[in-house]
Amino acid sequence: MDFQALSIAYTGAAATGYDARRAPSQKWLAEDSIVRELLRVLPVGASVLDVPVGTGRFLELYHERGLKVTGRDISPDMLNSAREKIAALNGLDGSLELADVRNIPDADGHYDCVLCIRFLNWVDAGGLEEVLRELRRVSKRYLIVSIRHNVPTHDLLRHGPNGFRRFAMRHLLGFRRWLRDLRKFRQPKAPRTNEHQKAVVLQTFDRLRLRIDSQQLVEHGRDGTDFYLYRLIKEEL
Ligand SMILES: C[S@@+](CC[C@H](N)C(=O)[O-])C[C@H]1O[C@@H](n2cnc3c(N)ncnc32)[C@H](O)[C@@H]1O
Repeated sequence: MDFQALSIAYTGAAATGYDARRAPSQKWLAEDSIVRELLRVLPVGASVLDVPVGTGRFLELYHERGLKVTGRDISPDMLNSAREKIAALNGLDGSLELADVRNIPDADGHYDCVLCIRFLNWVDAGGLEEVLRELRRVSKRYLIVSIRHNVPTHDLLRHGPNGFRRFAMRHLLGFRRWLRDLRKFRQPKAPRTNEHQKAVVLQTFDRLRLRIDSQQLVEHGRDGTDFYLYRLIKEEL
């Protein structure tokens, strides 16, 4: 994925309507409750970096848990929505600033925990590693990230009719996407998500010495993908 295209995708109406378009969905609610669960390892007063913080969907949760939060995002419009939330939360210990997730202006090991939700599927395998490396750098111990990956075909087919249905859907949707791309051939490319291969994700964690401390399924995608939230622990290189 082209980081440049992604950096300007969440402006104007894409930012102001962001929560309303997503907030009632099962996936959104499931993420909220899993993030709540995964944050339980942090003591009151721990420092958290949420990047990209977007519209600040977890700010209320950080406030409730007594965490000290820094939110960073590349979109001024998304940060404006997050600022409105901060203003409504009396006494939240936090700040919001513009930053590129690939170049976070903080020292190594600055935060007890770094969160990166709904971002890593906008980048390809190279981008995944680049971003995880930077998140790891600024974290003292924990990373909480969401990643959707393709379920390997042999695993899908082991799961009876439902697995077979998801396998068929994966190919059908892949074909539809290919047709759409063909039609848009001459138009500028819009950002598009990227379902990582599970093996690539696990190898990337290994290479960066990020150990899986907790792995929570958010949803089985009908396209033969699984969407997970991971809590990772940074180990010595
Ligand atoms: C799908 S939203 C996710 C926001 C939030 N984490 C959530 O779960 O709702 C993707 C966010 O990534 C931000 N973004 C895109 N490119 C970025 C970059 N290079 N550095 C930091 N943020 C970026 C966008 O502005 C947008 O707010």
